[in-house]
Amino acid sequence: MHDEEILEFGRLLFSSLDFKHIQKKAVGRLKKLLNCSHVSLYTYDQKKATLETSTTDTKGHEVHSSLPVDEFSFAGYCAHFSAIFHVKSPKDDIRFAREPEYIRELDLGEFLLMPLVFNGDLLGVIKTVGVAGANFSETDIEFAKLLVDQLAICVQNSKLLQKVHEQFVQIFAAMGDAISKKDPYTGGHTKRVSMFSEMIAKELHLSPQELLDVRMSAALHDIGKIGVPDYILQKKAPLNDEEFQIMKEHPRIGFEILQHIEGIEAVTSGMRFHHERPDGKGYPYGMKEGEIPLCAQIISVADTFDAMISTRPYRKGLPPMVAFEEILKNVGTQFSSVVVEAFKSGFKKTSMYRPDGLTNLMTNIKKAG
Ligand SMILES: [Fe+2]
Repeated sequence: MHDEEILEFGRLLFSSLDFKHIQKKAVGRLKKLLNCSHVSLYTYDQKKATLETSTTDTKGHEVHSSLPVDEFSFAGYCAHFSAIFHVKSPKDDIRFAREPEYIRELDLGEFLLMPLVFNGDLLGVIKTVGVAGANFSETDIEFAKLLVDQLAICVQNSKLLQKVHEQFVQIFAAMGDAISKKDPYTGGHTKRVSMFSEMIAKELHLSPQELLDVRMSAALHDIGKIGVPDYILQKKAPLNDEEFQIMKEHPRIGFEILQHIEGIEAVTSGMRFHHERPDGKGYPYGMKEGEIPLCAQIISVADTFDAMISTRPYRKGLPPMVAFEEILKNVGTQFSSVVVEAFKSGFKKTSMYRPDGLTNLMTNIKKAG
């Protein structure tokens, strides 16, 4: 009877592997198909043995909650026994006290809780809150089970993709770490550049995929230094012109290493162009503003900032506030203005941002001079 609706539900969910997208579509469509006043999707966190959910309350606020898998909440009970749980009078049930306030405020009907299971593994729980005065019939429950089975397949696919992404990040981080075996400075530097790049990318509100590309690209940004001779990489003094010319080739060498991996073009280009500048004075390609990918522009700011605050054998690192001001001074020439704005806003949220500290420091420098 519901064949077409079940197929359509599957088509809707399979159109994406992004969990947030699946969650949003599934919750909206289940609410409509099952004629419910509210639907929540809980995901099972195996490590913590908890059920996690993010929903929007009646005032439009995002509410996150975490429940243990035990017998003392409706969702926890469903997960604990991995079985469908039909609650005809939720308000009379002791577990009602564990419901979030926005649910308790709803004009409540029956509750129907269904485990999301794939291949015997618990993935989560779907909680549906029926319309006041209406009942879930046996037919409704059978229909809901079929829908939830489809949803379980999609959630599993999304989890597998997420795992592949995480493994990519780990492999790339390990490759990035390989360079630290030759040059300990580069190792610590890579980790910090990844951190600052992520900070900027978040301020730019990049999509989850773009954020992942930035993280992977930052982890690999100096991978090409593997091809730079040790006497240059480990030199405890500033490089001379000839050595610097060789060092400048590391983005090109990095590209030669990564170009054989298909499907990571965004990651590769972020690494390949991280020393390019909007004024065309970057290296090794001398690209101009508008030609440099955003990911590379982000790494460029993060990389330069960290290089300035790091102490090297031949010079002391600058205080973060001084390096911050230096970044701001080079907008439009060395760095893109959009990225510097994002860096500025992210930096101001860190403990490194101390405007008074800079004033004191400049006064001391002037006094000393
Ligand atoms: Fe570099």
